[in-house]
Amino acid sequence: MHHIAIFASGTGSNARKIIEYFRGSRAARIALVVSNKQDAGVLDIARANGIPALVIHRNAFYSTEDLLRGLASHAVDFIVLAGFLWLIPPYLVRAFPRRIVNIHPALLPKFGGKGMYGMHVHEAVKAAGEAQTGITIHYVNEHYDAGDIIFQAACPVGPEDTPGSIAARVQQLEHRHFPEIIARLL
Ligand code: GAR
Repeated sequence: MHHIAIFASGTGSNARKIIEYFRGSRAARIALVVSNKQDAGVLDIARANGIPALVIHRNAFYSTEDLLRGLASHAVDFIVLAGFLWLIPPYLVRAFPRRIVNIHPALLPKFGGKGMYGMHVHEAVKAAGEAQTGITIHYVNEHYDAGDIIFQAACPVGPEDTPGSIAARVQQLEHRHFPEIIARLL
């Protein structure tokens, strides 16, 4: 049985899908939710599903390795970033080699890097007049959006699209593919 930790900073719609997907699974369970925001929606989702949650603080996250103890106490062996906006520090990457994955709401290497998250990505896609966008699931290293790509799926973008309509289409792809890809990687 694998023990997954989901790291998220926001609403947690992907976290919800992943939790639902693994409910009742004999292969893995969501053992912990970690957030850097005390009022993140994902914490409500964790609570509603009886999943332990941890709120982390910037200093402790970057200047200590305390989080490793928290992860170990829940036997975490795989980490999923689902809208987690802080850069993962080297000690964490080293402790979980090729065991941390992220989802990015665009076709990397396009529209990635620091500051490229959520709606900023879809606004940039619209401004660039792209004919398609999509999702990228990739391994996490010490740099934003730079680890090896595991999976991509694309969707069309038309002239009538707004950043909001692009976001909705990309979110559908995320919800459809992310849980299955995680299951494949465990
Ligand atoms: C998702 O679209 C995810 O791809 C994005 O944040 C959103 C979180 O939504 N991540 C990034 O932009 C990372 N650079 P959610 O809280 O509803 O799952």
